[in-house]
Amino acid sequence: MNGNETINRQILLVKRPQGRGVASADLEITESGCTEPGEGEVRVRVIYISIDPATRLWMNENPPVVPPMPLGQVVPSMGIGIVAFSNDIDLPVGTLVHGFVGWQTFITCKSSDLTVLPPAPSLPLTAHLSLLGPIGLTAYFGLLDLAKPRPDETLLVSGAAGAVGSLVGQIGKIQGCRVIGIAGGQEKCRYLVNELGFDGAVDYKNEDVGERLAALSPNGIDVYFDNVGGAIHDAVVPHLKEFGRIVYCGEISSGYETSKVTSKISSLDIIVKALKLLGLRVDLYYGRAAEAVPWLAYWALSGQLKHRVHVIEGLENTPEALNMVFAGKNQGKMVIQVSPEPAQAGLASSSISMVI
Ligand SMILES: NC(=O)c1ccc[n+]([C@@H]2O[C@H](COP(=O)([O-])OP(=O)(O)OC[C@H]3O[C@@H](n4cnc5c(N)ncnc54)[C@H](OP(=O)(O)O)[C@@H]3O)[C@@H](O)[C@H]2O)c1
Repeated sequence: MNGNETINRQILLVKRPQGRGVASADLEITESGCTEPGEGEVRVRVIYISIDPATRLWMNENPPVVPPMPLGQVVPSMGIGIVAFSNDIDLPVGTLVHGFVGWQTFITCKSSDLTVLPPAPSLPLTAHLSLLGPIGLTAYFGLLDLAKPRPDETLLVSGAAGAVGSLVGQIGKIQGCRVIGIAGGQEKCRYLVNELGFDGAVDYKNEDVGERLAALSPNGIDVYFDNVGGAIHDAVVPHLKEFGRIVYCGEISSGYETSKVTSKISSLDIIVKALKLLGLRVDLYYGRAAEAVPWLAYWALSGQLKHRVHVIEGLENTPEALNMVFAGKNQGKMVIQVSPEPAQAGLASSSISMVI
């Protein structure tokens, strides 16, 4: 952890990665003096960095949606920090903030680039990067706004033991659906059924996905929430029912080595079963966060929605943490802890007022 408030440690992208994940030659760790904040600017001590599979996609030469990540600059990423120095009276020292902090120990930026964290009593600070942050919004809106599952329907989710997938499955259960998860390994599959209350699980690393789906859900699947794409997607398509919906959330099986999609579906499949293919981009829902966050917090506080956060300490471990996500070695939402939390950070008060 970096206790020195004038030195900034940064991880720069110096070479575009080839293949899955990142290699040490793609990145460089540097140390330099912190930039002095100008008028209306603040210096933030980074506490947590969010590890997101899409970061690997953004490192490619021609990524979708965002401009290419410039070489020689800090790897961008969401995170949480605390204002350490302020030139803006509206954002005083000690304020907890959320924003694109990047892979570094301090960031100097305009205060308007940051969002003040609302208090989330009884939830850990990391919940703002998982349950109450983009992960929770992805699960909530992807399932409820796009797929709109009905209580009598069967929901299948891949990447089911991960950050997004575990929330999707549990929200599906809250809606009254029958829920099946696909995950890698027996331990993760046991977790889905025994801890999260899924109705069934498929261990794609040791079982034939198509055969297991036929056994677990002989009448077919109504909604497939696809976090992984590739061969698993292709094995699921024949099991979709008439009027089935696929929410395309992620393509992590491709390793995001290029922007090319590896899943296959024919127009005849879509026509014959009258399928709906639904593309999900969580950033398009940020403006509607206030609809979802109270429900996510309420379900978590009432014990209906469990979420795991996998914390690894030390900025220098950030690249390895990204690689662990691509290898399925994470247990829930992966975050890097760069510096200590302030005391009582997640416990602002003992009661919560929510509009639900
Ligand atoms: N559309 C959006 O706006 C949006 C927003 C957020 C996230 N996403 C996407 O949602 C997905 C999940 O993201 P997350 O942050 O919640 O990560 P996560 O699920 O916590 O971690 C990724 C998981 O993917 C699984 N995985 C890795 N390689 C795989 C492969 N070859 N085949 C099948 N599964 C594989 C691993 O689980 P196993 O151990 O089970 O293999 C790993 O734990 C990602 O594809 C991400 O890009 C999309």
